[in-house]
Order: sequence, then structure tokens, then C-alpha cells
Amino acid sequence: MSHKRIDAHLSKLGYCTRGDARKFMKIHEIKIGSERVYNPSIKAKHDELTIDNQPLDDETLTILIHKPSGVVCSHDDSGKLIYSLLPTRWQNRNPIFSTIGRLDRDTTGAILITDNGALNHKLTSPKSNISKIYKVTLAHPLKGDEIEIFASGNLILNGEEKPLLPAKLTIIDETTVLLEIVEGKYHQVKRMFGAVSNRVIALHRISFNNFSVEDLKEGEYKIII
Ligand code: URA
Repeated sequence: MSHKRIDAHLSKLGYCTRGDARKFMKIHEIKIGSERVYNPSIKAKHDELTIDNQPLDDETLTILIHKPSGVVCSHDDSGKLIYSLLPTRWQNRNPIFSTIGRLDRDTTGAILITDNGALNHKLTSPKSNISKIYKVTLAHPLKGDEIEIFASGNLILNGEEKPLLPAKLTIIDETTVLLEIVEGKYHQVKRMFGAVSNRVIALHRISFNNFSVEDLKEGEYKIII
């Protein structure tokens, strides 16, 4: 935890821009320990500072959000971005937040958002083998061989060279299933059902790496790390 100028702390955590720090410090009570300070160039450690008697937001944050349908996991799409569901202060942090992997615009459910680049890299690496559990609603009834095909480790999706790792299919009824996969290929779940002549009509990710959104409503989020 390094000594940094107060304006650097404030702008990094999205409270205000560096240029606005002096004004911000007049309006808000910034203290180092018990001493109120007004000068943005004073250096302090993150943990010594309070704003209006509250500790500063953590220096890195990882959030679990229940993604609603219709929002996109991107920084530059013209649609409604998933980051717009977060508090404005968090949207102004630097480094910025990114989703860990992506869900399609019409997919709902569990996705992590972080400003921890190393963690993001680790969890999205093809070797990470993170469990993701999806609830899938299908256009057509199952045929009966899907559990075996997905578990085989032999299924090669269109355009891919290597087969998918084994995936676990659990049947709820003839058009509703749970699918657990450990990879994250582009449109993987939709393409897997395309490969067995079916079509996904609704897709919900129940959990990512055991982080489940079953206790969050759509659009709700919580800090997990
Ligand atoms: N697989 C898909 O096809 N879409 C998603 O959003 C996630 C996994």
C-alpha cells in the first residue's frame, strides 16, 4: 500500500477528477486519521484516509452481477452497457472495470466484473477450467443422445479444430436442461445445441466458478473480493 497524493487516490477510485479534488475536499470531509485535510497534494496511504467518516472504496474490486437481458458486456457497443448498472463512482474508476468473459446480449445471469487485470486474465485463460452452469431452454424436445454426445469429449463445433472438453448435461424436462461447461468458446452453449440439431431460445447462467446469482435479482450485484 503506497503513499500517494490524495487527488490520485480520489481520481483512481472515481470520487472526482484530479482537477476537481480541491473542490471535492471542501464539500467532503477528508481525514488522514483524525485530521481533516484540504490539500489534494498531501500524500497518504489508502487505509489512512476516510471520506465523510467512511473508508475509501477498495483499491481493486471484483463484483458478481446478475446480468439482465438486453445489456452488453462491452465497452464500445452502441447498446446499453453492463457497466451502466454500477454506481457512477465505480464507472469512473481507473483502471476501468471489465467483465470476466462475456455473455450474449440476450443471456441472463452470473458474470463477474473486475478491475483486477491479473485475475481477469487468469479466469479467462483457456487452461483455467472454470465451471459455468447454464439453464437452457430449447426450441425442440431433446432426442436422447445429447448427454452422451456432450460428455464424450469428442464433439467438434463448426469452425473449430479441437473437440470440446466433456460437458455435463442434466435434464429438467424435454426442453429444459442444465449444462455445465468448463470452457468459454464464442457462443459455446448455442453452438453445442446447434450441433445436435436444436436451438437455444433462452439462456441463463446460474453460476460462474461457484458464484451463483440465485440470491440476486436481475441488475443486482455484490462485491465478492
Ligand atoms: N454460450 C452462449 O452461446 N452464449 C452465452 O451468452 C454464453 C455461453
